Amino acid sequence: MDDLDRLRTDAFRDLDASADAGELETVRVAYVGRKGRLTEILRSLGARSLAERKSLGSAANAFRDEFEAKLTARAVVLTTAAAETRERFDSTKPGAKLHRGHLHPLSLVDADVRRIFTGMNFTVVEGPEVETERYNFDALNIPANHPARDLWDTFWLKLPAEGGKLARPNLPHKFGFGHKLLLRTHTSPMQVRYMEAHNPPFQIIVPGRTFRYEATDASHEINFYQVEGLMVGPDISLANFKYVVERFFTEFFRGKDIAFRFRPSYFPFVEPGLEVEIQVQQTTNGSSRAVARGNKQQTNVWIEVMGAGMVHRRVFDAVRYNPDPTAGGVQGFAFGVGLDRLAMIKYGIPDIRLFYGGDLRFIHQFRSL
Ligand code: FA5
Repeated sequence: MDDLDRLRTDAFRDLDASADAGELETVRVAYVGRKGRLTEILRSLGARSLAERKSLGSAANAFRDEFEAKLTARAVVLTTAAAETRERFDSTKPGAKLHRGHLHPLSLVDADVRRIFTGMNFTVVEGPEVETERYNFDALNIPANHPARDLWDTFWLKLPAEGGKLARPNLPHKFGFGHKLLLRTHTSPMQVRYMEAHNPPFQIIVPGRTFRYEATDASHEINFYQVEGLMVGPDISLANFKYVVERFFTEFFRGKDIAFRFRPSYFPFVEPGLEVEIQVQQTTNGSSRAVARGNKQQTNVWIEVMGAGMVHRRVFDAVRYNPDPTAGGVQGFAFGVGLDRLAMIKYGIPDIRLFYGGDLRFIHQFRSL
């Protein structure tokens, strides 16, 4: 009986002292486990007298019930305490740093272009990425079989319903009835769409995604972005174009007076046609940075970023504008600038394919949201 009394005192002290579920389990094993102290006493009963067996046996069983009840109660206390510790809020701790997303450099450049041109009173419009042959080529004075079509390697679309034949869908007129479908090779088709639906004078830009079926390299992708510009009115000239481009570049390169030049070029939908090139300096990682005008480090490396010119009268004919400014008609300039190339020069990116690789280490170098 004395043993049992000592056991009782020890067991309840140990239960109260246990600090977590692991320690509690050790206490349980020490008293009621296979070799536990209480188990030993119960086992020894068989060797005792009948009177002892009766009194000690019933006291030991009562103790076991009591021990197990206390064990359960202690387990509940410890679990609740553990949960509270986890949830305790320490208002003096510095906050956890939230992960912030980053803007893609093409999104940054797109936003810049929209801001700068709307600042010059241009309206931003957008057009479809799936186009018809008529808008992408014919109405832009690029008839079928014209060698200029080769300038734009085209992704033609097939309609499964036609057994994989090139699409000649019977679509409503607004899609260009009977014309083949393609992924637009440039943003110029929106010139025609816009002029069909609006009267001059106006000035618009058309940012958008364009596609070409060509081999990729450090400065060519099959999927890239352009911004078309179109300004039409009774007396719009190349002088207006020069002012607009110059102001655009100055704002785009944050006030830096960069060196750029016009070179004669050919596009069937403009006359005269020209290309705009920016002078760059090659850096050690293979990227190119714009050079300031008059900079002593003349590099003789020029990157073509834009095609442009005065809108061809055949394009005005296609949209039923009067192309004779001396008889109440209009004239205008158009341009198409490659957004990827602009972003590469602005941020010193050596390879256009980095834009589309999906590597977060690349994106994380740009402004966060
Ligand atoms: C055109 O696409 C004409 N539509 C531009 C134009 C508009 C001329 C209005 C006259 C009037 P071009 O094929 O040169 O032109 O492309 C224009 C710009 O798009 C290029 O200067 C270049 O910056 C960019 N570009 C062209 N092809 C690619 C490509 N594969 N990858 C990345 N950028 C490209």
